Amino acid sequence: MAKPVKVSSATFVCSVPDHTQGPKDRKPEYAFIGRSNVGKSSLVNMLTNNGKLAHVSSTPGKTRTLNYFLINESWYLVDLPGYGYARRSKEERGEFSQMMIEYFSQRESLTCVMVLVDARIEPQDSDLELIEWLGEEGIPFVIVFTKADLKLKSKTGTMIASFKKELLKNWEELPPLFYTSTEDKIGRDELLKYIEEVNKELKNGGKKDSNK
Ligand code: GTP
Ligand code: MG
Repeated sequence: MAKPVKVSSATFVCSVPDHTQGPKDRKPEYAFIGRSNVGKSSLVNMLTNNGKLAHVSSTPGKTRTLNYFLINESWYLVDLPGYGYARRSKEERGEFSQMMIEYFSQRESLTCVMVLVDARIEPQDSDLELIEWLGEEGIPFVIVFTKADLKLKSKTGTMIASFKKELLKNWEELPPLFYTSTEDKIGRDELLKYIEEVNKELKNGGKKDSNK
């Protein structure tokens, strides 16, 4: 069996209201985004083997800033606010999406957006709209299915299949897809290996490339 990917250090760096206040050292950034409660913070903790790094909430919609974590002294993992949480006011939701649109389209060191999608539910318009927008803007992204717990395998299999079907209505090819469960510790190495590969390419002078 292949060795697990090592995360030798993972430290919280800062929590900022917009990207202009983020770190200025231009290390590659991987932004984790998804609907509120999709399991972003849990995934961050699983990737870094640190149960306490990101705040896992029982109240949805808690993460409201860009949270920067420095991994292995070489790249940033950015935990973003969740979208589509109905109990926030309209203005607040609008502000969040504006903040994220600016981050995605202006942040030079943004390397890849990891779009988290709950594998247990039907395809959601908000997820599909974000993916469509990222594609149109040529912003590199991958899809990370969350909560793909083993005990729900047949259900998540059906949901994932219908999500792919939705994507293929507008796309000729699917972007890279990852399947994760923090409950069953699934998908950690695959995701970290992908990030390592992209970082290697960047180091070798490769340009970040769009998925489309
Ligand atoms: P906000 O920051 O509040 O938007 O939430 P988040 O996307 O960071 O989600 P968080 O990691 O806080 O998890 C939300 C809920 O989902 C918690 O109750 C977690 O325990 C649960 N959860 C996270 N990952 C999994 C998983 O793989 N399987 C299952 N069954 N539950 C999970
Ligand atoms: Mg969170």
